Amino acid sequence: VTSTDGYLNRREALSSALAIGCTASGLFGSTVLSATGMESMIDSVNPRLFSFVGGATGPWRVTSSKAIVGEPMPEVSNLQIVNVDVPIASSNQWVLRGITSNERYATREEKNLLLQKQAPIGRPAASLSALIPIRKNAKWWALTQDERRAIFEERSHHVSIGLKYLPAIARRLHHCRDLAETEPFDFLTLFDYDNSNEAAFDDMLAELRATEEWKFIDREVDIRLVKA
Ligand code: HEM
Repeated sequence: VTSTDGYLNRREALSSALAIGCTASGLFGSTVLSATGMESMIDSVNPRLFSFVGGATGPWRVTSSKAIVGEPMPEVSNLQIVNVDVPIASSNQWVLRGITSNERYATREEKNLLLQKQAPIGRPAASLSALIPIRKNAKWWALTQDERRAIFEERSHHVSIGLKYLPAIARRLHHCRDLAETEPFDFLTLFDYDNSNEAAFDDMLAELRATEEWKFIDREVDIRLVKA
């Protein structure tokens, strides 16, 4: 299955799961996906759940994969981003899963600014993408919400740094921590932009990585992608 913008819709994603021989469990109830059952499955799948499948095929080609902190990810040539649960990886691929969610930190004022400036991910001209899975340490998760907010924004300026780069950079945040299984990361952050904004993206990363918030990150892998 191919898609023009590199992101598969739910129907395409299910066909794609079939094509990569995925045996569905959990949400699909331990059956091999069949094309005939696809219609009813579309309704039963969590629309906020995304799987990032690293392997030999997919509309995004991996141009680099670097461990910034902690363990690297196994090397793959391509990535598929699908809006369904892909629970089982064959030997040559990995799967990272996360769900989009409500906001935890943004204030009303920040949210309004974000809504005014941000662009949706998947613009046709955005031929470059970055998937940056992140895990935060136990010290972070032991803090209270107000303590985390103070580090995140008042002391690290995450939103005000990020806002400077909108709408050139589009983003989507996926949470892994609340999924039932033990996941290797807490967040899967996804960005896209066109060629002329690659340097700006790197500048933003340098700014963010120098903040107090980033001291709580104990695993970060920077995976760069180009539309294949
Ligand atoms: C494109 C500019 C960016 C903007 C506008 C932005 C904005 C935001 C906002 C508003 C939140 C809070 C969501 C909430 O209220 O729960 C957030 C969370 C987050 N962002 Fe960014 N961000 C940007 C870039 C980045 C980059 C480049 C990374 C990683 C390399 C990143 C990683 C994260 C992570 C991991 C969280 C979750 C933090 C937590 O819940 O502990 N962001 N971002």
